[in-house]
Amino acid sequence: MRKVVLSLIVLAAISFACQENPQVKTEDASAERHSKAQAYLKLNCQSCHSPTADHDSRLAPPFFAIQKRYLQEYPEQAEFEQALIDFINTPTEEHALMAGAIAKFGLMPPMLVEPEEAKALATYLYEVKQKKPQHLAENEAKTPEQKAKQLAMNTKKVLGKNLMSALKKGGKEHALSFCNVRAIPLTDSMSQNLMHAIKRVSDKARNPNNSANYDEQAIINYYATLLEKGEELQAQVVQSGKGSIGYVPITTNPMCLQCHGSLGKELDPTFYQQVKSLYPEDRAIGYGPGEIRGLWVVALDSL
Ligand code: HEC
Ligand code: HEC
Repeated sequence: MRKVVLSLIVLAAISFACQENPQVKTEDASAERHSKAQAYLKLNCQSCHSPTADHDSRLAPPFFAIQKRYLQEYPEQAEFEQALIDFINTPTEEHALMAGAIAKFGLMPPMLVEPEEAKALATYLYEVKQKKPQHLAENEAKTPEQKAKQLAMNTKKVLGKNLMSALKKGGKEHALSFCNVRAIPLTDSMSQNLMHAIKRVSDKARNPNNSANYDEQAIINYYATLLEKGEELQAQVVQSGKGSIGYVPITTNPMCLQCHGSLGKELDPTFYQQVKSLYPEDRAIGYGPGEIRGLWVVALDSL
């Protein structure tokens, strides 16, 4: 009799355990798989995809940015994972989503990841939210105005740096293609997504694609009157039917004049023939130093 009771208890205990355990087990198992995947990433991937390095010292985008980009393109888990696996197995431009990262760092070299490892990494990157790197978190705390100005200033900095080094390297003939926003390799803080939100316009454009529209023209005129009065130019934000738009003034310095100055003075006529052959409709000459040359226009709603 006692034996029967005992075995009943054992049986009950077993069936109880069987009901409870599977879920606990899958949770444990997936937590374990995730921590394995995390360790794998740390060991094999984060030497390039560092979560802490800032944009100047990093070799590849952080997984926070990769996760965000893939989720945006593939909200469904199966597609997300397949796209990641495809890229990890064969890192080609066709499989890649992050054109800005490729422009900045070059395409990722092949990684030789085992198929089940690639699957585990993909699942981990879908299911576990990646932490935002500190410098990106700081960026988010900014107001739209500050963001617009920062994006414009970052872009200007890179543009200016490239222009200067091109001038040093091969003179103005060589530098001619370096005063073009669309030609600069992007940094993280000026990612492709962000750069879609910014353009550069002028009331006297060299490239007709950069011509100011009616509103932009009015703002340029406003800045010109401020300059005449000797006042500081500030970035500004305007609400319009198209959303809020940030305007950041662009002024000339002496360096600009070899390409945008007065013909026969700073601007060499022989060189200008070369400019004209590339930009037959050029109107961007005759500037002196410290004049308003145009605007950065930032679509704040898409930041
Ligand atoms: C030697 C440096 C290096 C290592 C190591 C490295 N990567 Fe990359 N990875 C890059 C670079 C550079 C990019 C950005 C250019 C690109 O997208 O190809 C990149 C981009 C990516 C992307 C985004 C691809 C896109 O454009 O859509 C994924 C996903 C990725 N890496 C996964 C991994 C994984 C997983 C590992 C570890 C197994 C790893 N990487 C290790 C350099 C590296
Ligand atoms: C080496 C010659 C060169 C120098 C130096 C140069 N630019 Fe340019 N700039 C150009 C060319 C070429 C374009 C047309 C780019 C394009 O196709 O978008 C241009 C376009 C621009 C535009 C866009 C509007 C337009 O006219 O198409 C602005 C604004 C501008 N430059 C401002 C400046 C400022 C400010 C400086 C000095 C800090 C400067 N540039 C120095 C050659 C130069």
